[in-house]
Amino acid sequence: MNNKAIITGIGGQDGAYLANHLLEKGYEIIGIARRSSVNNLLRLDVLGIRDKIEITYADLEESLTIQKIIKQHKPSEFYNLAAQSFVEDSFRNPVYTSSVNAMAVLNILESLLEYSPDTRFYQASTSEMYGKIKENPQSEETPFHPRSPYGVAKLYAHFATLNYRESYNMHASSGILFNHESPLRGENFVTKKIIKGLINYQKQGQAIELGNLDAKRDWGFAGDYVIAMHLMLQQKTPDDYVIATGVTHSIRYFAETASSILGINLEWSGENMEEVAIDRATSKPFITINPKYFRPAEVDILRGNPQKAIDKLGWNPETSLEQLIEMMIEFQRKDLF
Ligand code: NAP
Ligand code: GDD
Repeated sequence: MNNKAIITGIGGQDGAYLANHLLEKGYEIIGIARRSSVNNLLRLDVLGIRDKIEITYADLEESLTIQKIIKQHKPSEFYNLAAQSFVEDSFRNPVYTSSVNAMAVLNILESLLEYSPDTRFYQASTSEMYGKIKENPQSEETPFHPRSPYGVAKLYAHFATLNYRESYNMHASSGILFNHESPLRGENFVTKKIIKGLINYQKQGQAIELGNLDAKRDWGFAGDYVIAMHLMLQQKTPDDYVIATGVTHSIRYFAETASSILGINLEWSGENMEEVAIDRATSKPFITINPKYFRPAEVDILRGNPQKAIDKLGWNPETSLEQLIEMMIEFQRKDLF
């Protein structure tokens, strides 16, 4: 079989890192992106790989076009990374989120079954599906209880992937990935927002507004996580895998660590919505709380158990949170993305 991969969401954080990884392995890559009036392929430019990828423009909701692309290329591997990936926004746009994150995935599975049944399929599942967690840490056996339209839609796609595997013997796998970040993370997500905001604060003195500081996440490095996606499709049998570090930290800890690395001497003061982070050097608040960043239902804590991926895929999370923060800060100082 030829090493040809289709990647949806090629211009996103994971799309860019996965494409880079597969190019290094000699793959031919067809990247699906949607048309935009701004440059939504900037991450490929930053990694210097844009001209090595064949870009095909299609919205994931355009089911017939997606079908035609599959029929034309019959790839050896298909990675479905495109999604409305911002949990907060899914509360404002639940129908759209479900259309892209759930129904469009069903269309891809149907199209593969009809026109390219030997293609190996990867679905970008998520720790958001655990939501109101039933045990800690969460593994492949932990029951799901999503807490957002995003999580509900992803759970549909997760079980659709399982169903096509069981019903039609397709090589279809889901990676249940916990939060993973990088210098190329979208600026709405809390890690990038904090790092960009702190550097901006040091330059211009403008404070950052955040929401729930006490939620906890298991944060890893996207560059490590795309390796696991590829490994899943190299296995003889398809399966589901948790990809995580096994360590969890609060947003508060993330802000404290990033501030400390940047040389900002942070002191918390006040409570609840009145809480602020004070810069001891100037006595000015540089982090404040804005209720608009709180979600109607929150996922309080996530911590994954990656043992199955370690044992079966030989995968390991290589980057600590502190290393990740340093990497993000160093990159952000260059102001490239
Ligand atoms: P991301 O940076 O937001 O990238 C998502 C990509 O999907 C973007 O390129 C976006 O295009 C594209 N897209 C969105 N809607 C589309 C549509 N209707 N048609 C075509 N393309 C569309 O997300 P990511 O962090 O790389 O995540 C990749 C996947 O993993 C997503 O499915 C996400 O839900 C899932 N996931 C992520 C994490 C994480 O922590 N990063 C964890 C678990 C699962 P535009 O640039 O034009 O918006
Ligand atoms: N975005 C954001 N902005 N989040 C904030 C803020 C803020 O100002 N203040 C506090 N938070 C809290 C959120 O309430 C949430 O508990 C946590 O920070 C993480 O938020 P995000 O960085 O937006 O990520 P997420 O966990 O909701 O979703 C990400 O990870 C999922 C995997 O668990 C996304 O990448 C999803 O696509 C992914 O599936």
